[in-house]
Amino acid sequence: MKVKKIKVATATILIGLVMIGASQAALRAQQTDKALSVWEGVYTKEQAKRGEGLYVQNCSACHGPDLAGNDEAAPLAGPVFLSSWDGLSVGDLANRVRVSMPPNNLGKLSRQQIVDILSYVLSFNNFPAGKSELDPKPELLKQVRVEATNPKPK
Ligand code: HEC
Repeated sequence: MKVKKIKVATATILIGLVMIGASQAALRAQQTDKALSVWEGVYTKEQAKRGEGLYVQNCSACHGPDLAGNDEAAPLAGPVFLSSWDGLSVGDLANRVRVSMPPNNLGKLSRQQIVDILSYVLSFNNFPAGKSELDPKPELLKQVRVEATNPKPK
């Protein structure tokens, strides 16, 4: 009788442990699902194309047609740009643009137009395009990390 009770108790504890383990694994999967890297195809080709037009109209006068910047305007492509944004999010980048760019016409661009331009900036920096567009919602944008080097090279 006693032995049986102990067995039942042990089984209950084991089942409990397995369930905790499973829910932690699910949580981890969810967290990694949410956090994206710019290497994972976070914009589409069409979106970058739209962004290119907007960039030419609103940004290239200062940041240049090749995104290299000029004496004053910082580059938006290449190692200097990537190292200054490495580890930050595309949301941080979007905020920076929203509050300060273009300096001669603040507030001109919608959140959608800004993410379209950033898609073009990402494509110019050789980050891959993917199947879904970069979403302008701030809570989603801040989960997309800028990573200068690919953490999972193929
Ligand atoms: C009138 C010139 C001008 C225009 C137009 C302009 N910028 Fe800038 N931009 C600057 C200057 C100057 C700086 C650096 C000084 C500063 O931070 O304000 C800068 C800085 C930036 C930075 C920060 C770069 C870094 O790594 O620190 C980003 C991002 C940026 N611009 C994006 C844009 C985008 C996107 C557009 C078009 C929507 C745009 N800019 C239009 C002049 C301009």
